[in-house]
Amino acid sequence: MPVLTSNVDVRSDTFQANRASLLEQLAEHDRQLALVNNGGGDKYVERHRKRGKLLARERVELLVDEGSPLLELSPLAAWGTDFPVGAGMFTGVGVIEGVECVIVANDPTVRGGTSTTSTVRKNLRAMEISRANRMPLVNLVESGGADLPHQAEIFIPGGQSFHDITALSAAGIPTIALVFGNSTAGGAYVPGMSDYVVMIDGRSKVFLGGPPLVKMATGEESGEESLGGADMHSRVSGLADYFAVDEADALRLGRQIVRRLNHRKLGPGPRGPALPPRYDHEELLGIVSADLRQPFDPRDVLARLVDDSDFDEFKPRFGPSLVTGFAEIHGYPVGVLANHHGVLFSEESNKAAQFIQLANQTDTPLVFLQNTTGYMVGKEYEQRGIIKDGSKMINAVSNSTVPHLTVNMAASYGAGNYGMCGRGYGPRFLFTWPNAKTAVMGPQQLAGVLSIVARASAESMGRPFDEEADAAMRAMVEDQIERESLALFMTGRLYDDGIIDPRDTRTVLGICLSAIHNNVVQGTSGFGVFRM
Ligand code: COA
Repeated sequence: MPVLTSNVDVRSDTFQANRASLLEQLAEHDRQLALVNNGGGDKYVERHRKRGKLLARERVELLVDEGSPLLELSPLAAWGTDFPVGAGMFTGVGVIEGVECVIVANDPTVRGGTSTTSTVRKNLRAMEISRANRMPLVNLVESGGADLPHQAEIFIPGGQSFHDITALSAAGIPTIALVFGNSTAGGAYVPGMSDYVVMIDGRSKVFLGGPPLVKMATGEESGEESLGGADMHSRVSGLADYFAVDEADALRLGRQIVRRLNHRKLGPGPRGPALPPRYDHEELLGIVSADLRQPFDPRDVLARLVDDSDFDEFKPRFGPSLVTGFAEIHGYPVGVLANHHGVLFSEESNKAAQFIQLANQTDTPLVFLQNTTGYMVGKEYEQRGIIKDGSKMINAVSNSTVPHLTVNMAASYGAGNYGMCGRGYGPRFLFTWPNAKTAVMGPQQLAGVLSIVARASAESMGRPFDEEADAAMRAMVEDQIERESLALFMTGRLYDDGIIDPRDTRTVLGICLSAIHNNVVQGTSGFGVFRM
């Protein structure tokens, strides 16, 4: 059996320096998570509790099966924007009555649970995950709707959320709304579009317009209960299917509904026992280079990621800058593509295209471990057809129909991001390690390109070139690109499904592999024309 050997010197200075650097980045990540878990801050959390209500994450914890894995997605959405980090919403994959579901929960302590652009994107992404993987959607609703001063950015894209709920239903994926509080105006369509609706006595308030708006519009005097209370909706309008006496009862009813969904996974179960890797995952922290320019061997990562560290490498002697091969993770078969020296040459591109076809031939999900600076440039490589070969790889990735999982381990630059299944290429899930960077190219290279272009332009116009201004521009651009490449920046914009601790990668991929097998896993032979 081809068990990987991994001889990492845990006492070396490099290992220790790498480890210290990653631990520092993880500590910053944890500080941001603590902010998110504290919702809208002490004042709003206290007020919420005084009202006798559970916090969003407490509701989720009580909804899922005790002791089951819960994978939170994009917890740091909106980081680096003008809006609260976390986007006032929990999204994740959790197990309810043995069924993997996508769970969405408004955090009412954050600006009344209202939606900003990040909230809208986070919600739409959760529904995309529900659709692609055929997992039921459970909404825990308590939201003041759109963040009104920013309605211009929210109104149109936000409308898609109601479209997507009913599209899930039409695709045979059940949708459930448990309404814990306010669900006004546009928000009223969350229960309105859902297959199953639970409302809570004295708590749920679901109306197109509240009493003040009704008074303004028609002059009618009304109360919240008669307009949109649980009692009225369960007895009179029929919008509520189940009447809960309190929050715990609503969660119980939610579990009861999922139990009767008769949900069956369409993909196969794990192929074998999930033997743990033979090497300690703790060592991943010292393997990943703190200096992005220093390559590391992805086999050292795989030895700590795949079952029993058992990896059948494919074409090991050809295109060595990309490692490809077959393995299992938590018993699920996977094909792995992992960058080694960063640059992708023609050989690596052709090897990737062939390997992706093989995985499709055998209905094997693919895992992309990114650490790439992109495709090789230069006269020799252009003449040998790097564009054609890179395009073959991108063609294969784009048209492959087996599920893809992507992890950015360190770097994801240029078209390498596309060939290695970046966000635009629809991986079922994409996670980032806290050290990883993503951008069109490195900061120095990008600033340098701008400088050369400006110099050539000045020359062609016969203008003198201002060296001082150029140096200042380069420093400014380098600083900007560096900031925009960071994992926190990318996750804040929802370009991934979250930053993860490298040590959790195996567990996270295991949860994702189980989740994707709710849908059929089927490859294709219908690729685009491969340019030869
Ligand atoms: N847009 C922007 N900010 C909003 C908001 C909205 N739709 N709804 C609430 N907020 C803000 C409040 O101004 C308040 O900010 P502050 O603490 O800085 O003063 C904060 O969110 C909390 O709101 P508050 O009203 O104190 O919380 P609550 O828990 O008592 O009530 C709501 C929450 C959602 C029931 C209530 O704020 C409400 O009715 N909002 C308007 C809902 C609406 O009509 N939406 C239409 C959307 S299409």
